[in-house]
Amino acid sequence: MAGLWPALRDLPLGAKFGVACLVFVLLGGLVASGTHVLWHYENRDERPGLTLDDFTGAYSGVERRAPLIVALERGHPPELPEADRETLLAWLRGDRVSEDFDSLDLGDDAPAEIIAAHCLRCHARQATEGDGIGQKIPLEFWSDVQRVAFSRQIQRTPAGVLVASTHAHALALATMAFVVGALAMMTTWPRRLVSLGVGLMGLALLADMAGWWLARLSPAFVPMIVAAGSAYSGLTGVLLLGVLAELLKGPRPASK
Ligand code: HEC
Repeated sequence: MAGLWPALRDLPLGAKFGVACLVFVLLGGLVASGTHVLWHYENRDERPGLTLDDFTGAYSGVERRAPLIVALERGHPPELPEADRETLLAWLRGDRVSEDFDSLDLGDDAPAEIIAAHCLRCHARQATEGDGIGQKIPLEFWSDVQRVAFSRQIQRTPAGVLVASTHAHALALATMAFVVGALAMMTTWPRRLVSLGVGLMGLALLADMAGWWLARLSPAFVPMIVAAGSAYSGLTGVLLLGVLAELLKGPRPASK
């Protein structure tokens, strides 16, 4: 079962050193691409942190309706007088959302007044009602309301950009995966385990990149991109660490 290629551990010291250095470079690249994913997609949904919405936005495109509109339309809170609900909805659907928020001209009909009268009982940071919703979605100031008052259209990545990205990633990542897989198969770690790792790594990369395009047909594929992409990076990292550990082993006593 030795195969055509030498076991890494039997290589001369200079070659081992070189391979180890290159493995470090690849590991550094993995860390950099993780960071890149974080920074690049984090802000797609204009909310801090990397969420599934960020990826859905980038790969599929999403329309995110203003949480305030969604809540009011579904009849929340039930005790809000119908006239006030209509006033708030008309305000939110119009194009003077920031200008009219606490407009003096509107008097008691100013959105800020209606919100103060009907929402702050629960949606204030110090509110005693509402099971702490006031901490999560406070509506005390314009800066609070602003976060939930606007609908957003997140445009997916244009096809041309995705083609460019696919051409760069597909060729580079698959080539790199071949090398990582081959190096892993040149180790003396349990062969079945390594083989399983290499198999899953290949599958993960295929699923990840196919997902980029399938997500344009349906956002249902977006979780697949995230899962497969993480699996690919994770498996590559583990295989590379396995290669590094292998290089530390001495040559086998009687190689062939
Ligand atoms: C009696 C307490 C109470 C009052 C009054 C109240 N809310 Fe809420 N609100 C809640 C609670 C609890 C939740 C979280 C559970 C839920 O979504 O129903 C919530 C959720 C929300 C959400 C997020 C819902 C979503 O779909 O994500 C918005 C937006 C909201 N409220 C707006 C308002 C506005 C605007 C008013 C006033 C017109 C108001 N609320 C009045 C208790 C209250």
